[in-house]
Amino acid sequence: MTSTRPGPDWLADAVLYQIYPQTFADSDGDGIGDFAGIAEHLDHLSWLGVDTVWLNPCFASPFRDAGYDVTDYLTPAPRYGRTEDLVALVEAARRKGIRILLDLVAGHTSDRHPWFLAAAEDRADHRYIWSDRQADGFVASPGSRPGWYLPNFFDCQPALNFGYARGSSEEPWRQPVDAEGPRANRAALRGIMAHWLDRAHPRAALLAEWGEPAAAVSAGFHADFFLHFGGNDHGLPLRSLWNNGGGTVEEFWQQSPCYFEAEGRGTPQTFLDAWRSAAELTEGDGYIVLPTANHDFSRLATGPRSGEQLAPALAFLFTWPTLPAVYYGDEIGMRYLPGLPDVEGSVLGPRYNRAGSRTPMQWAPGPSAGFSAATPDRFYLPVDPDPRRPDVLSQRADPTSLLHTVRRLISLRRAHPGLGTAGGVEVRHAGYPLVYVRSGRYLVAVNPRREPGVVRVVDGTGDGRPVRPLEVQGVRVVDGELRADGFSYGVFELG
Ligand code: BGC
Repeated sequence: MTSTRPGPDWLADAVLYQIYPQTFADSDGDGIGDFAGIAEHLDHLSWLGVDTVWLNPCFASPFRDAGYDVTDYLTPAPRYGRTEDLVALVEAARRKGIRILLDLVAGHTSDRHPWFLAAAEDRADHRYIWSDRQADGFVASPGSRPGWYLPNFFDCQPALNFGYARGSSEEPWRQPVDAEGPRANRAALRGIMAHWLDRAHPRAALLAEWGEPAAAVSAGFHADFFLHFGGNDHGLPLRSLWNNGGGTVEEFWQQSPCYFEAEGRGTPQTFLDAWRSAAELTEGDGYIVLPTANHDFSRLATGPRSGEQLAPALAFLFTWPTLPAVYYGDEIGMRYLPGLPDVEGSVLGPRYNRAGSRTPMQWAPGPSAGFSAATPDRFYLPVDPDPRRPDVLSQRADPTSLLHTVRRLISLRRAHPGLGTAGGVEVRHAGYPLVYVRSGRYLVAVNPRREPGVVRVVDGTGDGRPVRPLEVQGVRVVDGELRADGFSYGVFELG
């Protein structure tokens, strides 16, 4: 099928991997990850089959929100290396067929960005959103300028003023999108993007982190993520799959059981409905990314979900027509670690602790490579203290490991484009197991609960079409019945 989607053609087959630069790989032993560390581990990514890396913000920052508070968009944070090191990393990755997506934090800057420092002294500067009176959510000016500014997240993150589509008499700070400040900001963003993309990257893709694919794609992005929050449905589609009540939890989140849980109390229908609607709205224009986790919410291995329960989730991720995104460490089943202290803005509330998803990548048994060489006060975050914690080295040596399963699933998706974004999907059973046919040709079953499940299927069973197992753990198709063990998955090709 020829894609009619605009944007770079490589994106349709992309397998994304998110690298949190602080904690991925530490080449110089200072306790914080760096560009050279990532470069040293590119072999891991190419062995796994990943071809696209999302690198979290790596620019100059006081790190009060872990780098989402930028003071200079054109200069990497020294902790990660120099521009030359970033360029060398991108080039080394390119030689291995891996693209690197840089993260442009466009909604706000640090309050120590020179733009904001200037705006806080000058009433005529409208690059940020200022109010003459103390309105809800606004923060007092830190400079000689009177008034209050609007933050976007933490108070140290003033929102950039891109203007508003509609004015409001109650909110007199709303400026039109063609006012001077919004125009200056758009020009600045174009300058920043040109600065990095003009280093000969003509086939770049633009991904949003909005959590609202239909809106982001219609706004011109090539793809957007399902996230645990954001959008009209407040992240419900993704949470209905993964959020088991452990790890990062907002008080207002619905806590009915998610689909991927051992007791089998969930339903995939919430996700299926939301995905169907977003897919229809983005069809032909862009893609939806389905992440295992990210730096803002719990890992796949959170609370009671661990070990053998993870493979069915990953089988779903790699056989669904969304773009798969693996959060670093989820390919080995790294655990979300509860109760860690706040690091650079990671703790947002009593139950909302992002630190547990940001711990150092577990490369090897023992103290984790590189990070261990640091003195205790320079550790960015502790490594999982559990002596049985998963690590890359041990799983590489074990063909039955989750790491090898993920590698096989990625190579399966590559070998059979009908399992990727181009092919259709027909859901046969929206329960335990979830059973669907991709591209009229592949029968897929995932059973994330402990109990087995049996479903009558017709194709490839009762009508003489044989089924050929492509990648199976614990699923059989016998006499028109699909029988799925607890915690199983199967991908079959229909004859
Ligand atoms: C990031 C968060 C960050 C927030 C505010 C989001 O896009 O994913 O980690 O805290 O922006 O800066």
